[in-house]
Amino acid sequence: MKVTVVGAGAVGATCADNIARKELCNELVLLDIKEGFAEGKAQDMMQTAALLGFDTKITGSTNDYSKTAGSDVVVITSGLPRKPGMTREELIGTNAGIVKGVCENILKYSPNAIIIVISNPMDTMTYLALTATGLPKHRIIGMGGTLDSSRFKFQLSQHLGCSPADLNALVVGGHGDTTMIPLIRYATWNSAPVTDFLTPDQQQQIVNDTMVGGATLTKLIGTSAWYAPGAAGAALVESIVRDEKKLFTCCVSLEGEYGQSDICLGVPVTIGKNGWEKIIDLQLNVDEQAAFNKSADAVRSMNDVLKTL
Ligand code: 2OP
Repeated sequence: MKVTVVGAGAVGATCADNIARKELCNELVLLDIKEGFAEGKAQDMMQTAALLGFDTKITGSTNDYSKTAGSDVVVITSGLPRKPGMTREELIGTNAGIVKGVCENILKYSPNAIIIVISNPMDTMTYLALTATGLPKHRIIGMGGTLDSSRFKFQLSQHLGCSPADLNALVVGGHGDTTMIPLIRYATWNSAPVTDFLTPDQQQQIVNDTMVGGATLTKLIGTSAWYAPGAAGAALVESIVRDEKKLFTCCVSLEGEYGQSDICLGVPVTIGKNGWEKIIDLQLNVDEQAAFNKSADAVRSMNDVLKTL
């Protein structure tokens, strides 16, 4: 197995670190445009191998895509991160050009790769990766909902005083602060509905805090978060390379599912060796479906911006 992570910034490096620690592949390439940056980070990580006991070989590359040749999975993290007060959507102009170029270069050397998109605005970058490459839809996966669902579980765990690992919870829709939809009605604590244990006010608070999860961290840290985004990317890589068929919310191409088409948006999917394999059709109630449609409208207008670039 060979995996490439494009972009050796905080998210890309954290993702690579998680992949190596879990030995998800024997070859891992970290690529960046900044001279020597990926090589340095790769070497630093390799110097943890003896301490952590992993066998994955990590190689760095300064924009030499030939080193990524034959990758089974490629994670794209390239592009500018958010600054405090910025929305993910404000990054579209710069990041669209970067993501398109990365996809072209990757496919020259790894025509069969499954692509995981982390770059923001993630829903539109996933749509761009799909439309610009013309790849079969199952091979393009946007990471956003996987991260947002993990943040949702964290917020729930704080209120319930329980382990986040004991929770099942999904965030569907877009990855924007106002477009994501934490589905609290579906969330469970070891099979018991969380709504049995939370007041309506607490539920609203959890939903609100989840939606601004990324922005809250950007304000605190001064740039975009990386531990959870990197771990979310690695969790998807794991489900692909081990063909686990785990259920994650991912941004995928919709062709009528959830009443939407010609858009990539977060819905529950199984992830396995073929990329995203099956969309799970939840029976959304009227309010949830209305929120999903509103989210789709916002993402669609962002996708329209691509035509003007
Ligand atoms: C976040 O929400 C990077 O979009 C990512 O932190």
